[in-house]
Amino acid sequence: MSIDQLEETALAMVAAGKGIIAIDESNNTIKKRFEAVGIDCTEENRRRYRELLLTTPNLSDHISGAILYDETIRQKTRDGVLFTKLMLDRGILPGIKVDKGPQPLAGFPGEVATEGLDGLRERLHEYARLGARFAKWRAVIHIGDDIPTSSAIDTNMHLLARYAALCQEAGLVPMVEPEVLMDGDHDIDTCYDVTEATLRSLFAALYEHNVMLEGTILKASMVVSGKDCAEQAEVDEVADATLRCLKSAVPAQLPGIVFLSGGQSDRAATEHLDAINRLGPNPWPLSFSYGRAMQSAALKLWSADLLGNFAAAQAIVASRARENGLAAMGRWTADLQA
Ligand code: 13P
Repeated sequence: MSIDQLEETALAMVAAGKGIIAIDESNNTIKKRFEAVGIDCTEENRRRYRELLLTTPNLSDHISGAILYDETIRQKTRDGVLFTKLMLDRGILPGIKVDKGPQPLAGFPGEVATEGLDGLRERLHEYARLGARFAKWRAVIHIGDDIPTSSAIDTNMHLLARYAALCQEAGLVPMVEPEVLMDGDHDIDTCYDVTEATLRSLFAALYEHNVMLEGTILKASMVVSGKDCAEQAEVDEVADATLRCLKSAVPAQLPGIVFLSGGQSDRAATEHLDAINRLGPNPWPLSFSYGRAMQSAALKLWSADLLGNFAAAQAIVASRARENGLAAMGRWTADLQA
């Protein structure tokens, strides 16, 4: 795979007015989401739910790609069409979560490192054969008393760089995701400092590992107040801090940046993205790769009647995609809310 092809895929992922839907919850995570709304977490229900999302009418109007999980990339629609084929036929790029989740980092209480490098080369080649065009690896950085340590940051960014180099070798665009968690009572300035240190460490590691930035997408967390902070930053403050932080740490040759929603409400995730884009023009397209902020309203409605609410839940997915697609261009308005 040439760098030109990787770059073409990366640019398609962040095409104007389009973003990514993250439906790559591990079986453990989707079990929690299903349990919260009273759905049995059977393989068939997981398949039906992902079919609902991926067959949403006109999804590709505002969705360029979807991130799948290992089980999902092997699944088919009820008519027997592989999800990846359905997606490629509809102009939606298949992505795949390839990390194996965070585990406690030995010697660093309260901190974690993401596992999944063992056997990754073979897995990536298999995913590429199954139709994947990009991959995702999530690193998790906790903010708390005396953490994060620079050791935890650098360890996680080193792992991200090793993963990214292997992706490019296999012809997949690496989506590198260093998530600074919103958990905690820290203020927005602390989030800024930790996010900036994390991104600087990430891009130093990517450089050391010969990762071609032109064929890489950053999945970033926004600079926000901790969930339990008494003083919650306003929308404009989040937009300004997020953009300043990215400009100070992310090279301009990166084709694009997408945000995770990280536990923000649907409304906040969309409003923040819109406000960030209203501050443009920016060095890169800034779009979304939301999981919860794309799915939660639809999942709740579907759970009330799995057969009867199928189409209505899809209408919510389409509407969330449209809202976020407009926000990615700085053209969202509150009256568009579903
Ligand atoms: P959220 O938008 O729910 O944070 O999920 C995005 C994601 O893919 C996290 O890895």
